[in-house]
Amino acid sequence: MKLTLKIWRQKNAKSKGNFETYQMDNVSPEMAFLEMLDALNKRLVEEDKDPVAFDHDCREGICGSCGMYINGHPHGPIPAITTCHLSMRFFKEGQTVWIEPWRAKPFPVIKDLIVDRTAFDKIQIAGGFISVNTGAAPEANNILIRKKDSDNAFDSAICIGCGACVAACKNASAMLFVSAKISQFALLPQGKVEAIDRVRAMVAKMDEVGFGNCSNTGACEAECPKQIKLTNISRMNREYFKAY
Ligand code: SF4
Ligand code: FES
Repeated sequence: MKLTLKIWRQKNAKSKGNFETYQMDNVSPEMAFLEMLDALNKRLVEEDKDPVAFDHDCREGICGSCGMYINGHPHGPIPAITTCHLSMRFFKEGQTVWIEPWRAKPFPVIKDLIVDRTAFDKIQIAGGFISVNTGAAPEANNILIRKKDSDNAFDSAICIGCGACVAACKNASAMLFVSAKISQFALLPQGKVEAIDRVRAMVAKMDEVGFGNCSNTGACEAECPKQIKLTNISRMNREYFKAY
């Protein structure tokens, strides 16, 4: 398969950046999208050119580092998967593929397709934890939790912190991410002790680092690779009202 790639190249946060065009021949439909970028980078290195910088780690959909815009969608046009799970069989012979970094003020471009997501880390550090003594694994039945609550908490906890929700939102709102991180504790007894401090601190940090507000367009939920639900935002708002 032949493809035309239009890839955003930018030296650093201060430089302007622009799209560069790359022709790809012999792209196998069996390849993963990131393998296709690996093949391009191999060629660029052999030609003594600067390879395209992109973030990745697990390539298994769990670390959240492989975020990029592909043909106008965070993580590409196929719903509910990360870029590293995107296969080249979803592309057509002769297609042009536009590849860009997340575009949001709190996520400045480091280089090419890599953005700095430490704004998320700062929110997590503000309150995304519970304070317990660690040690041996506790007896599972010491604290009984309703099945429905543990299922809902797990559904929130699968957020991988990729930032696609922010990139998809016209307000660069981080509410889906923050609400998932708050919900995973709010639903469990272990999270209730610090619930007030947690929601106050995380929401304050979210505002401080520059994320926008939610205007209920639902773009975040539609583009989230882990299908985190908007109901998490409602829960976060309820937690916030209770805390004041
Ligand atoms: S809510 Fe979804 S899109 Fe946002 S950081 Fe979590 S997994 Fe990524
Ligand atoms: S590389 Fe880890 S989620 Fe894609």
